[in-house]
Amino acid sequence: MSVPDAFAGGLPPGLPEPALLARLAGEFFAALPGSSAAPRAPATGGVPVPVNAHPAGLSIPPGALGPSTPAAVPFGAVPPGANLAPMSPQSPANVVASAPALVPHAQAPNGVPDHVLSAAPGYDGRLGTQVLGVPEAHAASVPAAAPQPPGGGTPAPGAAASPYYFIGGDAGTPGALAPASYYFVDTARPGPAAVPQASASAHPPFDVNAVRRDFPILQERVNGRPLVWFDNAATTQKPQAVIARLSHFYEHENSNIHRAAHELAARATDAYECARETVRRFIGASSTEEIVFVRGTTEAINLVAKSWGAKHVGPGDEIIVSHLEHHANIVPWQQLAAEKGAKIRVIPVDDSGQVLLEDYQRLLSDKTKIVAVTQVSNALGTVVPVKEIVDLAHRAGARALVDGAQSVSHMRVDMRALDADFFVFSGHKVFGPTGIGVLYGKREVLEDMPPWQGGGNMIADVTFERTLYHAPPTRFEAGTGNIADAVGLGAALEYIERIGIENIGRYEHALLDHATHRMKAIPGLRLIGTARDKASVLSFVLDGHSTDEVGKALNREGIAVRTGHHCAQPILRRFGLETTVRPSLAFYNTCDEVDRMVAVVRRLARA
Ligand code: ALA
Repeated sequence: MSVPDAFAGGLPPGLPEPALLARLAGEFFAALPGSSAAPRAPATGGVPVPVNAHPAGLSIPPGALGPSTPAAVPFGAVPPGANLAPMSPQSPANVVASAPALVPHAQAPNGVPDHVLSAAPGYDGRLGTQVLGVPEAHAASVPAAAPQPPGGGTPAPGAAASPYYFIGGDAGTPGALAPASYYFVDTARPGPAAVPQASASAHPPFDVNAVRRDFPILQERVNGRPLVWFDNAATTQKPQAVIARLSHFYEHENSNIHRAAHELAARATDAYECARETVRRFIGASSTEEIVFVRGTTEAINLVAKSWGAKHVGPGDEIIVSHLEHHANIVPWQQLAAEKGAKIRVIPVDDSGQVLLEDYQRLLSDKTKIVAVTQVSNALGTVVPVKEIVDLAHRAGARALVDGAQSVSHMRVDMRALDADFFVFSGHKVFGPTGIGVLYGKREVLEDMPPWQGGGNMIADVTFERTLYHAPPTRFEAGTGNIADAVGLGAALEYIERIGIENIGRYEHALLDHATHRMKAIPGLRLIGTARDKASVLSFVLDGHSTDEVGKALNREGIAVRTGHHCAQPILRRFGLETTVRPSLAFYNTCDEVDRMVAVVRRLARA
C-alpha cells in the first residue's frame, strides 16, 4: 500500500493533527534568532507592500537569516504550516510527506530531538542558493502612474534602472523586501484569502523597456536582426522569473508529490499546491478544489467532453459552439456527438468576426446540453461577449465552457463574475511553460463528473474488486503530473500580477490600435477580423502575395509571425480563405517593432 493510500480515510491515530504540527514547528522557528512573529513592516513610499511581493523568490536579501528555500512559500504566500493543514484534498498525503520530519521520534546524543534538525531544511547546505537570486519585488512600493505609450522609448522618470522589472534604483534597503521564509513555518504570513489581488494602484508605471529586459529571448538576433516576437497567439516568451523558478525547482525541490516521507516530497508538494493557489487567485475561483492541472487547453476540453460529456450528453442532444472556435474546441465535441448521436450547432459571426447573439439565442433550446465558446478568437482576435453567452446558456438550462487560451494573457478573468461552469487555458500562452494548463470547473460540476483517466494519484483505495476515487481536483490528475511546469506557471501568473493585468491590457490596446491603423493604410492589405472589441491579433492577407511569402519575408527581417490556418479552418473559410498571416502582440512588443513589420509588408506590397 502506498503511503497516501494509508491515509485516505484520515490520519491514523497517534499522528498529531496538522494544525498541531504546524504550531509546534511555528514555535520552534519563532524561537530562532532572526525570526519574527510580528507582521512585516510596510516598505517606504506609502503603498503597502503586498505580503507576497517577494517575487521570483530566488534571492535571499542580505542580512536575512535565510534557509535559501524561498520558493515554496513566497510564491503562493501560504499561511504557517499550510502544507500541513487540510487546504486541499491532497493534504493528508502532504502531511505524510512532512510529518515524519516534524514528529519527535528520536533523540540525538546531544539531547536535541531530531525533528529540530530535520524540520529546518534550509539551514543545512543550501546557503549557496543566495547567489541564484532573481532581484526582488520593489516596484510594488512605487506609486502607480499611467502606462507609458507603447513606443519603446525612454523609461519613465523614476523607473527602475535595473536589468529586471522589479528592482528599482532606490531599492536601498533590500533586506526589507523579503524576510526569511521557511517551508513549514512563517508566522507572519497571511492566509490565501488575505493575499492582495493585483490592482493598478499596487503597480509601478508600465515601462515596456524594463519589461523587455525580463525576457532574455528578446535579446536574440534572427537573420542578423533583433528578434521581433509577433507569434504570441501560438506561444508566449518566458520571463527570467519563470526560467529561474524552473531551475530552482530542479536544483532544490525536485520530487514526486504527495507520496513520500521525505523532505523533497514536501517541498515539491508545497510548490505544486502553491501554484494551484496562485491559479485560483489569478482567475478568481472560489477554491483550489476547482483547479485541475492538465497539459493544456486541448486536454482540458477533451477531459470535459470525455467525462462530463459522456455522462450528460445523449442521443438528440445539442452542443453549441461558435464559428470562431479553434479546432480544440470543435473536434472533442464532434467526437462526443458522433459517439452519442448528438448534434453540433454553430453560432454564426458577422463580417467583422463578432458572434451574432440573436442567432445564438435562437439556437438555444431544451436540447442544448453545453455551450462551448472562446473568449478571444485565436485567428481574428475578436473578444467574444462570453458573459452574455454563459448567462443565456444557463437560462436555457445548459452548461457553459469558456476557452480562455487567448484571453488570460490580455485581460482580467474572474470566475465568480463570469459564472462559467468550465474555463480552460494553457500555461505557455500566458508566459508559463509548455505542457501545463488548467481546467477550472465549478466544484459541484466537477464533483458530479467521473474520472477520465485511471491510475495512481487519483485513487483513495484500490482492491481488485473496486476502486474508490479522490475528490476533485485529484480525481482528474491520474499519474505523475507536470509538477515543475505547474510551479513555473504559478511563477508566470505571479509575474503578471506584479505588472498588473489592467496595465497590460491598456498598453496592448494602444499597441493594437497603432498596428491596426498602420496596417490598414498598406495598399492591397486586407485585415481579417475587424470587430470593435479585439485583443492581440492582426490577421491579414496581401494582394499578389501568398501568406507563406509574406511570412518568409518577415522572417528574413527577424520578425516571427504565424502563417496558415491557425487551427481554425472554419472561421477562415467563413471569410473565403484557407490561410492568413497572423501577427499577434504581447505586452513586451513595441510600436517600433510594429513599424518594422509595416515597413516590410509595405515593401512587398509595392513589389
Ligand atoms: N493555438 C495556437 C495558435 O493559435 C497554436 O497558433
